[in-house]
Amino acid sequence: MARFETQVGVVGAGPAGLMLSHLLHLRGIHSIVLEAKSRAYCEERVRAGVLEHTSVQMLNDAGVGERLEREGLRHDGIELGLNGVRHRVPFVELTGKYVTVYGQQEVVKDLIARRLADRGDLRFECGEVSIEGIDSEKPRILVNRDGQTDEIHCDYIAGCDGFHGICRGAFPEGVLSLYERSYPFGWLGILVEAAPSQKELVYMHHPRGFALYSMRSPKITRLYLQCKPDEDIREWSDDRIWTELHTRLNCEDGWRPVEGRILQKGVTGMRSFVVEPLQYGRLFLAGDSAHIVPPTGAKGMNLAMADVHYLSNALGALYVTGDERNLKSYSETCLRRIWKAQRFSWWMTSLLHRFENEPAFDRKRQLAELEYVLSSRAALTSLAENYVGLPLDRQ
Ligand code: APR
Ligand code: PHB
Repeated sequence: MARFETQVGVVGAGPAGLMLSHLLHLRGIHSIVLEAKSRAYCEERVRAGVLEHTSVQMLNDAGVGERLEREGLRHDGIELGLNGVRHRVPFVELTGKYVTVYGQQEVVKDLIARRLADRGDLRFECGEVSIEGIDSEKPRILVNRDGQTDEIHCDYIAGCDGFHGICRGAFPEGVLSLYERSYPFGWLGILVEAAPSQKELVYMHHPRGFALYSMRSPKITRLYLQCKPDEDIREWSDDRIWTELHTRLNCEDGWRPVEGRILQKGVTGMRSFVVEPLQYGRLFLAGDSAHIVPPTGAKGMNLAMADVHYLSNALGALYVTGDERNLKSYSETCLRRIWKAQRFSWWMTSLLHRFENEPAFDRKRQLAELEYVLSSRAALTSLAENYVGLPLDRQ
């Protein structure tokens, strides 16, 4: 058994855990990051791809935005499609802000490279993690690998281990309230070797179900189809996928997604989920371990970034000046933003998807709402200001 000491033990090397570890390092705070999977796995996993302007600013301010500035695609708006016609939502005109398309795994690669260049302690394929003593002064992370257990003694533990992690389960019974909503559909996503045939993302309403046209780079397109939540991907040949994409996305003006080699396909479930509070004793949750949003509003990675921004600031204030106030209000501060993002993600999802077996009244109401949004500058501005990201709260 080996014994280690650190100020902050971080479980999980996704965007939340890596960014937290880096932000803490910038404040002179030591951390150890424990990750169950390999470095290659973390760097290759295809996930979200839209960064709010606040997330871009955070990455730039933290000195890890160089490749993002070079390779990220600036998007000044999105397009909403209805009845085969695309309508632009001009973010810059409506809010003065834009978003940047840059894959989550690229953010992860940049952060890992930077942590390692700064001699950060990242432990991939770490083995089985458990935590103890979160209501004591010195909580511990136990890491069991090949029958050997390492003990990591911490001042604080950050649970950045995603939705399926172990940290949320370490809260004593009865402390957490869970708020959840599942949706009767999923997304079938493909990554395609094809230059985007359109500059901006297209969110398309269609009687057969929602479709999204997105991209990752000047050579790679990302597309999604609303599908059953338990859709069997083996039933979707490439031909079937393209036929369905064309049915839903092709527009009256002749625009259609360009086909190419499908590099990857998969089905993702959709849910909204929040736990409250995000803190118990010396354990703090951040990112997907505390909340999940349906991907329609592109908020997942941005919420993770906001959580660790608040957490690193709060820990910074504590270590530098002994001021505990921001750490005490961490949960409350994060939850204000989390619930606004939950509301927006739920709203975008409800606005654009087909709800099987819903009353005809609701279908008509949904169409009226879409037509209203598309015709009202006030409604479009509300959509735009949420999509580009609400301002961060001052702590
Ligand atoms: N021990 C160690 N590591 C673990 C454990 C465990 N028991 N359980 C999970 N992990 C790791 C996972 O392997 C993963 O690398 O924690 C990491 C969590 O990363 P993410 O799931 O990417 O979560 P987070 O960093 O909060 O980022 C949120 O991910 O799902 C997307 O849309 C979401 O973009 C958002 C982002
Ligand atoms: C993506 O490119 O993966 C993407 C873009 C926008 C979304 C969701 C996913 O709303």
